[in-house]
Amino acid sequence: MKRQKMLAFAIESLSNDAFLGTLAVHDIDWIARNGRLGIVIHKPENWGKGYGTEAMELLIDFCWKHINLRRLELGVHSFNKRAKKVYLKLGFVEYGTAHQQFYIDGEYVDSVMMEIFRLDTQD
Ligand SMILES: CC(C)(COP(=O)(O)OP(=O)(O)OC[C@H]1O[C@@H](n2cnc3c(N)ncnc32)[C@H](O)[C@@H]1OP(=O)(O)O)[C@@H](O)C(=O)NCCC(=O)NCCS
Repeated sequence: MKRQKMLAFAIESLSNDAFLGTLAVHDIDWIARNGRLGIVIHKPENWGKGYGTEAMELLIDFCWKHINLRRLELGVHSFNKRAKKVYLKLGFVEYGTAHQQFYIDGEYVDSVMMEIFRLDTQD
């Protein structure tokens, strides 16, 4: 596989092939074997149905087994409880806060930084 900086995927429903959203591993550092994850399921009516958890689980597995990364990180807006819950369920842990990183609807918003390590790696 060519060493891209980013690999992006579509999230589709298995029952009717509907396009639900996208997820990606970006800012890939092939030397340090790090990457940064991002996900969006576009329509709110598709939130809370387990798609995000399943898609992220598959992407994390892909990053460990197919492109040999060893650490993944992401940032989540501090108010985004649903996303944070998904990441915690998948094993991400908080390692810091990027204070007032965004300006949304007239307010500065913190970004909670989270990371996960491949457990079986010896190197
Ligand atoms: C964040 C996102 C990817 C999550 O995917 P999803 O398919 O909605 O999430 P899931 O259904 O797999 O899981 C949601 C979990 O959050 C929980 N949850 C929902 N609302 C919650 C809230 N307000 N507080 C805490 N937990 C909440 C659900 O109970 C569920 O946990 P459970 O499986 O233990 O019951 C999706 O909602 C999305 O794309 N949102 C808009 C874009 C976005 O926020 N992207 C992430 C940017 S970091």
